[in-house]
Amino acid sequence: MRDLYIRSMGLLEQLPRENYLAKLPVVKHLADDGITFHKQVTFFVGENGSGKSTLIEALAISQGFNPEGGTKNFHFSTENSHSELCNYLKVVRGFLHPRDGFFLRAESFYNVASNIDQMDREPGCGGPVINSYGGVSLHRQSHGESFLALVENRFGGQGLYILDEPEAAMSPRGIIRLMQNMDELVRRDSQFIIATHSPMLLAFPGAEVYQIREEGIDSVRFQDTDHYRTTVRFLQNPESAVEEILGRE
Ligand SMILES: Nc1ncnc2c1ncn2[C@@H]1O[C@H](COP(=O)(O)OP(=O)(O)OP(=O)(O)O)[C@@H](O)[C@H]1O
Ligand SMILES: [Mg+2]
Repeated sequence: MRDLYIRSMGLLEQLPRENYLAKLPVVKHLADDGITFHKQVTFFVGENGSGKSTLIEALAISQGFNPEGGTKNFHFSTENSHSELCNYLKVVRGFLHPRDGFFLRAESFYNVASNIDQMDREPGCGGPVINSYGGVSLHRQSHGESFLALVENRFGGQGLYILDEPEAAMSPRGIIRLMQNMDELVRRDSQFIIATHSPMLLAFPGAEVYQIREEGIDSVRFQDTDHYRTTVRFLQNPESAVEEILGRE
């Protein structure tokens, strides 16, 4: 791929100090240094509440995606709960424009599925929308099945895919299938920007991993993330790890 669709993001102006967003490490980092994208796959990893969703949601909205997820053609809204960070964002785009795109958030994927069913109940031009998603209503599939149906049928390449915890519904084998699909899509000139807690997903080859901590954001090897280290330490000796955690040594 000659260029990335999203090259960097930063802030246009400072947020008011009393705004909770101004206190988030990701926002401080955006204000000071910005975030540069170097690879076709970028992961954001960090503790619960570190600001991953806030960050990638703002990026997705700035690129015209619906705050609750979907393609750029989704305009439904069940709850107006997105943060105002998108209004302060400065995003530098590459020369190439993506021909495909999707903003996937685990927490509101149900509403995306409902919206597709709703669109197909209304008269419209062209075939049913669900045909692009494998032909079976996403509500008639399990959570993990519907995610994979989306990635395998709807993601077409040359796309910008912004995913918030895509592993949420996935079994380990599901994550492996997701990685196989990502590999194919990366070959077909796609850019992925992903918030994740999955140590498996973080091992995707050639990806850049940004770890978010109180002190700021660092580009790290996936083996050096807290998520990976904690998981490895646990799995090396689960019995003694559990006894230690529960104070039963
Ligand atoms: N309206 C709000 N007012 C005040 N604080 C908020 C508001 N919305 C979110 N926050 C806070 O912003 C922080 C970042 O939330 P965010 O959802 O981005 O975290 P996250 O890294 O995606 O976490 P997780 O891994 O649990 O998904 C959290 O501490 C949250 O409590
Ligand atoms: Mg989140």
